[in-house]
Amino acid sequence: MSQEPIQYAADLIRSARHLVILTGAGVSKESGVPTFREAMDGLWARYDPQQLATPHAFRANPQLVWEWYEWRRGLVSESMPNAGHMALALLEQLHPGDVLTVTQNVDDLHERAGSQDIVHLHGNIARNKCLDNCQGEPTLIENLDPTDQSVPPRCPYCGGMVRPDVVWFGETLPVHAINRAIEASQLCDVMLVVGTSGLVNPAAQLPMLAAQNGASIIEVNPDTTPITPLAKVKLTGASGELLPQVITALEG
Ligand code: APR
Repeated sequence: MSQEPIQYAADLIRSARHLVILTGAGVSKESGVPTFREAMDGLWARYDPQQLATPHAFRANPQLVWEWYEWRRGLVSESMPNAGHMALALLEQLHPGDVLTVTQNVDDLHERAGSQDIVHLHGNIARNKCLDNCQGEPTLIENLDPTDQSVPPRCPYCGGMVRPDVVWFGETLPVHAINRAIEASQLCDVMLVVGTSGLVNPAAQLPMLAAQNGASIIEVNPDTTPITPLAKVKLTGASGELLPQVITALEG
C-alpha cells in the first residue's frame, strides 16, 4: 500500500483528542481465530454460527452449543495476539489523548496484547454464567466443579445449566458496555475501525454515530463494508500488516 493513506491515517490519529478503536473478528484472524462469516474449519463447517449462537439453539441442543464454544475457547487459548493487536496496544500507550478500544470480539487478545481500556460489547468467551442468572444478572461462575461430568456443566448455586458469558443473537448487549461505547462514539474526533463487516447492530451503528458528530473514520479491512463509504481513510489489507505501519508513521 502506498504510504500516503498510512501517513494520512497517522496524521488524523495524532491530532485526535478522543480516539475510539472499534474492532471485529478480522483483527484476530491473523492470530488463527476464524472470523464469523468465513467458512469454518473442520467439524463445524456444516454449522452456521448464527444457528448456534442463540438461546434457542442452546436450549434445543445444549451439549452441541457448549462443545462448539469449548472448541472456540481452545482456539483462543492456543492463539497469540498478532502484530495488529500489539500495534493497537502501543497506540493506546503512545497517544496523548484518551483511547478506548470497543471490541465485538469475545476473545481476550486485546488484553493479552496490553490494551488497558477495553469495552467488550458481546461478552467474553473465557467466562461462564448460570443460564438462569439465579443469583442476579449476571451470575458469573468463576470455577466449575472439576468432578462435574455433565455437559454443559451445572450451576453450583441452582443446579441449572452453565453457559458462556457471551451475547447471543437476539439477546441484549450488556447495558454498561453499549452505553459507554455510544457515549465515546459521540465524543470522539477519530474512530479507527478494524476488521469488522459492519453487519451486526448496534455495533455497526457506532461509526455512523461518530461520523454524524464530526469524527473522522479510518477503516482497516481487506474488503469493502457498509462502513467504507463513511471512511475518510480506507487502509485496504490485513490489520496485522497495516497497523504497525501506522504506528511507524506516527512515530516518524
Ligand atoms: N485484517 C482486517 N480485517 C480482516 C482480516 C484481517 N487480516 N481478515 C478478514 N477481515 C475482515 C473481513 O473482511 C470482514 O469484514 O474482518 C471482517 C470480519 O467480519 P465478521 O466475520 O462478520 O466479524 P464481525 O464483524 O466481528 O462480526 C460481528 O457478528 O457474528 C456476530 O457476535 C458476532 O461479534 C460478531 C459480530
